[in-house]
Amino acid sequence: MKITILGIESSCDDTSAAIIRDGLMLSNVIAGQAVHREYGGVVPELASRAHQQNIIPVISEAIRRAGTGKSEIDAIAFTRGPGLLGSLLVGVSFAKGLAASLGIPLIEVNHLQAHVLAHFIRTAQETETPSFPFLCLLVSGGNSQIIRVEGYDEMEVIGRTIDDAAGEAFDKCAKVMGLDYPGGPIVNRLAVGGNPRAFSFAKPHVSGYDYSFSGLKTSFLYTLRDCLKADAHFITHHQEDLCASLQATVVDILMDKLKKASIDLGIKELALAGGVSANTALRDTFTDYARRYGWKIYIPPLAFTTDNAAMVAITGYFKYMKKEFCGMDVVPFSRVIL
Ligand code: KG4
Repeated sequence: MKITILGIESSCDDTSAAIIRDGLMLSNVIAGQAVHREYGGVVPELASRAHQQNIIPVISEAIRRAGTGKSEIDAIAFTRGPGLLGSLLVGVSFAKGLAASLGIPLIEVNHLQAHVLAHFIRTAQETETPSFPFLCLLVSGGNSQIIRVEGYDEMEVIGRTIDDAAGEAFDKCAKVMGLDYPGGPIVNRLAVGGNPRAFSFAKPHVSGYDYSFSGLKTSFLYTLRDCLKADAHFITHHQEDLCASLQATVVDILMDKLKKASIDLGIKELALAGGVSANTALRDTFTDYARRYGWKIYIPPLAFTTDNAAMVAITGYFKYMKKEFCGMDVVPFSRVIL
């Protein structure tokens, strides 16, 4: 019997729905929210309202593109958290209503676990999937973690940020330079023409496999403050070098700890996940480390780096196989639990 799962993602500022049948992705629709751009960051209240507007068209479109009828859906998987509570409530409530009306089970999904399991989504292009155990560097706007993955539902966070996430460092430094939100992709684009060694910024000294990015942010800010005293147009004159140096520092910080974890734990199978894994310098350095240290690496297709419902649906599929359903009394959670 074929198992068809509808996945729903609404944890932050992307409303997404996807259909996966027996692990194969049939559709993955994502509606972003341009409304936050003028505020330089996600405004939770506006995000919830946009989810309310988007959720029905997005789910209808995912079902239409998959060529399935609603009656063919076996279960609904939804992101329970972590994320913005108001945003999560929209997806959770809609999932409950639809599951009740179709008389099918509900499956709660941890957003972070879903980012890791995105590596197991099957598409028309055949790709190799990681074998257990592997280490996953999960880097996004809200998280920077090294996760030891022992199985589909067996994951341990062995390192995490003690303050800001890597994506936040990109976004906040970009904001200081007067760039749009989200700043990460813009910094990435501008960095291409810059010198990664033009400026040096502070790197953290944190124990174990944990990360810290708040010092880098401050160091970046102080550099700009000092240089602007001598040249009022310093940012425009040095934008590409600033972006390249910032990006190189973030990548160095991320890769240093990942390498340490790989050596200490003797795990040479490694994967990237999360929005920041779209960064080309991170991807290039990851590939370079793989050559140097004999790693077998997995880099997600760009469509699966940012928030998407296909990763929720694949996680739901694995949980469906183990009959891990949840009740109608389930509520979202905003904080990290993995
Ligand atoms: O996983 P994600 O889509 O969502 C949340 O964390 O909610 O990650 C978004 C983050 C943002 O901080 C964004 O600036 C960053 O990923 N990002 C990038 C790139 N593309 C997205 N950072 C650096 N380089 C990129 N190419």
